[in-house]
Amino acid sequence: MSSYRIAVNVEWTSKCNALCPMCPRDLIEHPQLMTGQTWWQVLGQLSPQDVFRAVIAGYGEPTTHTKFWEFVDDMRHHPVRFDMVSNGHQLDTERIRHLDGAIDLLIVSFSSIDPDVYKRVHVNLDQARVMDNIRTAQQLFKHTRLAISLTPMPECLPSLPDTIAWLQAQGVKILTMSPTLYNRGGSLQAHELATEKLRQIIQKYHLHSQELDFVPSVRDVFQQWRSNTFKCIPRNIDVFISASGDYLYCYNDVKHDHPIGHVANLGIREVLAKREGMALIPELCNGCNMLNRYGAKELVKTGISYARTKLKGAAA
Ligand SMILES: C[S@@+](CC[C@H](N)C(=O)[O-])C[C@H]1O[C@@H](n2cnc3c(N)ncnc32)[C@H](O)[C@@H]1O
Ligand code: SF4
Repeated sequence: MSSYRIAVNVEWTSKCNALCPMCPRDLIEHPQLMTGQTWWQVLGQLSPQDVFRAVIAGYGEPTTHTKFWEFVDDMRHHPVRFDMVSNGHQLDTERIRHLDGAIDLLIVSFSSIDPDVYKRVHVNLDQARVMDNIRTAQQLFKHTRLAISLTPMPECLPSLPDTIAWLQAQGVKILTMSPTLYNRGGSLQAHELATEKLRQIIQKYHLHSQELDFVPSVRDVFQQWRSNTFKCIPRNIDVFISASGDYLYCYNDVKHDHPIGHVANLGIREVLAKREGMALIPELCNGCNMLNRYGAKELVKTGISYARTKLKGAAA
């Protein structure tokens, strides 16, 4: 049986207080909150031998969960590393203090310092309030690290230098960006999806590329590559647990249409074993811009950036 580690993406809720145009969340037919019982089952399935990092994110806003306070406490003494991705709107002083030390990294998604751009990208959210919350998190965190995820939408790019300057002036050190504007299995055909351009931007502004965040180690990627017949790295490197407690075939299954088991009765290794034998799902994979994303050339390029990042980290 395979022995590589993976990242886990846990969706506390598929409901959200925003309506971002790039987010395909509206494809989810029955948005829901994860129950306390399911969350306990999730925690019971996560072990450091299998999981190098669990990210509380999914397709919704975790800070809006009604059991936010209890769920955060439950992560405090769990042996797996937890991180969280949030749009930042609900991150008031109390929530920031509560998160401190319970998670390793809080990643706040931020589109632009330009209020008009922000309003168009983070629809429904209050930019001034989010900026206040970023400042507060930067000042209050003692144990948890703060990172910002810069939105890779074309309309955010002209104001990117000013956005970066403002964040750096607040003392934020970790600025990240995804080099891919996911079309999430074909649901976002209308957007420009220029990964090469995004990679150049990431390099130019010395941002951290999010494609490296799901790589536990070169050995794990190699094992994962050997064990899976269908060699899609984005699928194989991550396990997505939806708000209902279903393990999804791939995180690009936005509609949550392809569950491969439930946390109540299947462990991570069993899910991986089941998925290793599975081929592509045409309905999902044929429209996906991540399919064949990492051929030999891409793998070498990404491997070199990964090694560089590790070396920089070691030297720091
Ligand atoms: C789906 S959200 C969930 C967490 C939280 N609601 C937030 O916005 O940070 C997770 C991350 O995905 C990003 N995102 C949403 N749609 C995307 C897309 N089409 N391509 C790339 N990133 C996307 C968001 O900006 C956010 O940083
Ligand atoms: S805040 Fe996050 S989950 Fe909500 S719509 Fe925007 S990207 Fe999607």
